[in-house]
Amino acid sequence: MENREDLNSVLEFLPVVLRSTALFWPSQVVEALKALSNGPGHSKVDSGEVLFLAISDLRQSLNLSADALAFSTADGFSLFFDDLISRAEANKWFREVLPVLADSLLRLPGMLEAHYKNADSISCVGARDGLKTGLRLLKSQEAGIVLLSQELIGALLACSFFCLFPNSNRGANHLQVINFDHLFASLYDNYNEKQENKIKCIIHYFERISSSTPVGNVSFERKVLAADHSLEYIPYPKTESWSKSVVSLSLFEVCSSGLIEDHSKEALEVDFANKYFGGGALTRGCVQEEIRFMINPELIAGMLFLPSMADNEAIEVVGAERFSKYTGYASSFRYCGDFVDKKDIDINGRRKIRIIAIDALVNPGRRQYGHEFLVREINKAFCGFSDPCKIQRYRMLFEDNELSEAQLDQDLKSLNSKSDNDVEICQPVGFQDEIGIITGNWGCGAFGGDPELKAIIQWLAASQALRPFVVYCTFGIEALQTLEQVKQWIIFHKWSVGDLWNMVVEYSSQRSKREIQVGFFNWLLPLLSSDDPMMLDVP
Ligand SMILES: *[C@@H]1O[C@H](CO)[C@@H](O)[C@H](O)[C@H]1NC(C)=O
Repeated sequence: MENREDLNSVLEFLPVVLRSTALFWPSQVVEALKALSNGPGHSKVDSGEVLFLAISDLRQSLNLSADALAFSTADGFSLFFDDLISRAEANKWFREVLPVLADSLLRLPGMLEAHYKNADSISCVGARDGLKTGLRLLKSQEAGIVLLSQELIGALLACSFFCLFPNSNRGANHLQVINFDHLFASLYDNYNEKQENKIKCIIHYFERISSSTPVGNVSFERKVLAADHSLEYIPYPKTESWSKSVVSLSLFEVCSSGLIEDHSKEALEVDFANKYFGGGALTRGCVQEEIRFMINPELIAGMLFLPSMADNEAIEVVGAERFSKYTGYASSFRYCGDFVDKKDIDINGRRKIRIIAIDALVNPGRRQYGHEFLVREINKAFCGFSDPCKIQRYRMLFEDNELSEAQLDQDLKSLNSKSDNDVEICQPVGFQDEIGIITGNWGCGAFGGDPELKAIIQWLAASQALRPFVVYCTFGIEALQTLEQVKQWIIFHKWSVGDLWNMVVEYSSQRSKREIQVGFFNWLLPLLSSDDPMMLDVP
């Protein structure tokens, strides 16, 4: 089999087995899946209760019984399929949807083999390192891309539904649980409507893909900032790179209403992430990140092979389609029916939905005003917002003494002489120029960040990453009522990234020493309006 190394890195996390050179299901599993794929007449699986028995049998055939499922999983399946949804819906599920899912599981070994066969043959996915795109563990500190077809993702998520992924080595590899046992068990343990509605989104996704298989691709990329000067990595900005930056600020549009996912502009949409990609999506969580994972469930596939993020990392997903409408947030979250995603498709068959997961500091309190933490946050946002096609330009911006001109020259030469593929990826120059950032109060809800600082930090990071614009959704919060005014002040004074960053640093230093209590905007505005020439003269 091709790409053996890639497969080997994930094999222990997959339910299928490798025999000599091919992937298989054990024969009892094949028999059980065949029965399931022929519908309840053959399998007798026509209720949540019986479904769970079938799942237990499958798990036994895969020797997974020792990996205990969440305690109330059986009750959760039964509650959902036998009580909460109507009999008509349940019939449709057991007669029409479940058989298609079982069939996709039967085809999973073949799909994986086809995937590995094609994995490196694509030319233009935005990858820099030899265009390796096969399914593999995308380890921390290793930049890389995995490109999966939506069909393969559907089969992988069916494995999650049937709880077939082995769990034993996931924790040790900083991977979250990927089976859906906790999703269902928490429904029973602590019944609440938000959990029921999360499951409804997932069930709806399976209904959609079983009535018509999606034909596109989804890419998952680990972006890494690296302090050394390797060409494939986005350079790690030093503190001086921020304070000395002369880059101009990008356009900044303040939206007091509307949601990130409802904008139509070409942009990276920020996922206010947990360092474990997906956060509590498959347990009880139901805030921004988890909601996104429910309405765009293909994101969940990334949880299979993306260990937690370090401070210098971000995860970008392109192509995960949206399937559900919803209303509410947290406990008021409700599934509201089918959503047909009409975003365009790119040359790699990916829908142009770009989601960038960046995890903010958790409960930083006053620590967030400390210099080290400011730098951590801005570099995290910069990592997410950076465009890997602009690595050369970032390197120029961050140029410093350690990197001699000769070395830079040399690097650029070797970059330019790389294969045609590489050139094509980043062509035409400015290919991604129109792609901005759509964000909001990152890390300001459950994580307790300061919204004024977070808004400014994200603006700085997007500007330094050479993004043309930021659309900032304030969700109407009180603290950001003057954001538009503050932005206009800043624009009026033609501040560069460095100028604004130095203000943030000055403010934060006073704030962390408890010299001041006011928010950044109130601190900044009187300062700007005073006639202190020192202040008005900021270049
Ligand atoms: C998806 O990616 C594969 C390469 O892995 C490519 O062959 C295929 O054409 C892509 N699909 C679409 C719809 O572009």
